[in-house]
Amino acid sequence: MYKFLSLTLISLLTVFGQYVIAGGRFERTISRPFRSLLTVHNGLSWGSWGQKEMCPTGMYATGFSLKVAGMWESLQFGDNTALNGIRLHCINPSKSSSGPYEDYATVQSDVGSWGKWSDIKWCSSGFLSSFQLRVETYQGTLDDTAANNIRFNCSGNAEMLKGSGMSWGEWGDWSEKCGGKGICGIETLVEQPQGVGDDTALNDVRMHCCD
Ligand SMILES: *[C@@H]1O[C@H](CO)[C@@H](O)[C@H](O)[C@H]1NC(C)=O
Repeated sequence: MYKFLSLTLISLLTVFGQYVIAGGRFERTISRPFRSLLTVHNGLSWGSWGQKEMCPTGMYATGFSLKVAGMWESLQFGDNTALNGIRLHCINPSKSSSGPYEDYATVQSDVGSWGKWSDIKWCSSGFLSSFQLRVETYQGTLDDTAANNIRFNCSGNAEMLKGSGMSWGEWGDWSEKCGGKGICGIETLVEQPQGVGDDTALNDVRMHCCD
């Protein structure tokens, strides 16, 4: 029994150890200049905007991952929040040109308290260049979740990446397309925990576009 437990522990450590080693580093350049801000019109407005986080100079967002509270958490807490956080994973195009990437920097703005981070979705070529948000509108006395999921288009070969978020609500309009090289920064609007009140976590996002 003990032997079985320690074997289980060792294999868990192996799995998570690799996970940590294979992950990118948290690194950012807060004051990096940007060319434009990409926004969408269907975000909701509970909460406050988090700090702007920019990929390190010379790097562009090529992949993303999401923090999502799924059905299981909804049942556990009786309150759905769906999308809680968005990470951009940035690469240096002069060092590698096709995924999956191992050398990358990760940025995120404010993040909600619920859910788990999903795997990274990478553009097979080019950078993230526009996005679309799936949002559930105000539910009145019912449970609100606000933002549920996100899709990105890559600048490379007309590829669309869809996040593994939840499916309440509707997709809104696409943001503008980045006129520079690609998306290079992120700011999220996240509602703080409401105690016994109705939590929604992530409500809106805007992204920076760099030359
Ligand atoms: C993103 O890709 C989808 C599917 O190809 C397309 O319908 C949409 O117009 C694209 N959005 C932008 C902003 O280019």
